[in-house]
Amino acid sequence: MITHDILVVGGGLAGLSAALTADPHLSLAIISRVHPLRSHSVAAQGGINAALGNSQEGRDDNWEKHAFDTIKGSDYLADQAAAELMCREAVPTIYEMEHLGVPFSRSPVGLIAQRPFGGAGFPRTCFAADRTGLVIAHTLYEQAIKRQVKVYDEALVTKLVVENGRCVGVVIYDLATGQVLPMRARAVIFATGGYGRVYLRTTNAYINHGSGIGIAYRAGVALKDMEFVQFHPTSIYPKNILITEGARGEGGYLVNNKGYRFMADYAPSAMELAPRDIVARSIQTEVDKGRGFEDEYVHLDLRHLGQKKIDKRLPSVREICLKFGGIDPVETPIPIQPAQHYSMGGIDVDVRCVSSLAGFYAAGECACVSVHGANRLGGNSLLDTVVFGKIAGQEASNFVNGLELKDGNEKFLLDEAVAEKAKVDTWLSRSGGKMAHHLLNDLKVVMSEKAGIFRTKKELAEALEAIREIRDDYGRAFISGQCLRYSQAIVNLVEFGYMVDLTEVITLGALLREETRGSHYRLDFPKRDDAGWLKHTLVSLKDGKPEVAYRDVQITKYQPQERKY
Ligand code: FUM
Repeated sequence: MITHDILVVGGGLAGLSAALTADPHLSLAIISRVHPLRSHSVAAQGGINAALGNSQEGRDDNWEKHAFDTIKGSDYLADQAAAELMCREAVPTIYEMEHLGVPFSRSPVGLIAQRPFGGAGFPRTCFAADRTGLVIAHTLYEQAIKRQVKVYDEALVTKLVVENGRCVGVVIYDLATGQVLPMRARAVIFATGGYGRVYLRTTNAYINHGSGIGIAYRAGVALKDMEFVQFHPTSIYPKNILITEGARGEGGYLVNNKGYRFMADYAPSAMELAPRDIVARSIQTEVDKGRGFEDEYVHLDLRHLGQKKIDKRLPSVREICLKFGGIDPVETPIPIQPAQHYSMGGIDVDVRCVSSLAGFYAAGECACVSVHGANRLGGNSLLDTVVFGKIAGQEASNFVNGLELKDGNEKFLLDEAVAEKAKVDTWLSRSGGKMAHHLLNDLKVVMSEKAGIFRTKKELAEALEAIREIRDDYGRAFISGQCLRYSQAIVNLVEFGYMVDLTEVITLGALLREETRGSHYRLDFPKRDDAGWLKHTLVSLKDGKPEVAYRDVQITKYQPQERKY
């Protein structure tokens, strides 16, 4: 049986950071559904935040101001000590990455360049043109090769194996062989990313189904603050590929069908660089009030930046517009609309990435520490992946180094794999029922229509009911054909079961939270309610049903105030 001390599930930035920081004397492997350089981290464009103070306007910046902006941006739901830790660690983390070889863009005097981003008091976002995630992933992956980190790619984890209250491994579906296999470990770190594909419009890759979050939930770990779903303001219409916030950071304007920079009406000081929740809602409001184009989008105008700046700072934006929109942003405004982009919620872990399940850790988008609270600031996601990925690698190593060797559980792990394979056999044995792509489409429609940017009690309750009906349909799912190798149908059905759980948790949390905070906007409760709701939502699976609890937000020195931008 394949056995390692630590299994890291996910080959994006959080997973690579964990692998590179773990004790090198331990046997560690990464399991990834795709090659690590196909992980969604490579799609991150605009940058990574750290208060380096490199620009003229940013010279008074420091990590505490970064922490304050993060907490205010979170609509005061972030745990403040955690946000402080992330922002303090940001500065050494950027220099560490620079020393590893990340080719950051440079200022005229050769320092790491920094651009303004939404909700930030200073230009604080370090970047590599608009390919920041890509270059960091390449650099960390090179380091992983150098250190001979073992990678099992094209392997989908289907289950966590828990024995006597401890995580002892995973079950995988190995796409290349079609086998369902156990993998044994003394600790498992999940760095499995987000779940954007539960919405029709998302900037997320096709691999972002969020099954890692669902697997942890099924294994008994609580999910935290799942009702907070980030919609990025600017995805290109109609393909919904990300157009980085860096485009606004470099000076781009948002304009409605009257040619008006409408952000003046919503965030008069910050304008286009208000936090994402505010900008996304403003765009959607303009469209809903008939001030958009074709009832679908507004314009992001970059023309005044000029070709030289666009080519230097936003080359991928130009390429995306040319290839997927058929327009050149040098000459034509970009049609944009909000699309799901990020999950603030996730697997409940503490500031050391420790979960309630012994031997199980989580970092990056699949986890909720919480540093982003109700709304994440742009540029804080890459930072989260690297800072908490490293912490997860250290913590899992400490745990494993303190363990007594325990073997002899091969049979237990094998039985778990046999049970997983039996589910696949059931789908293969049916000759009729529901197919994965129909189920997925039904779920996406419900989430998009009833649990999107604007929410109401009525629609959320309808969503919850519809999701439960879709779960019944999932019980009749089938796969046509018998091929086990590279079966997208198997992948889809495995992941779909977890997606149903996730969407139930998102909508349930959203239905119960009778206030507006950050990305969670309730038309029927349009104000933030600190007396009633300054708390985290925790949903756990008890006897097959979601059970909801709440936990106080940790405040250090920033008392909640009204957010004004
Ligand atoms: O707009 C962007 O480049 C995205 C950045 C982020 O999500 O942090």
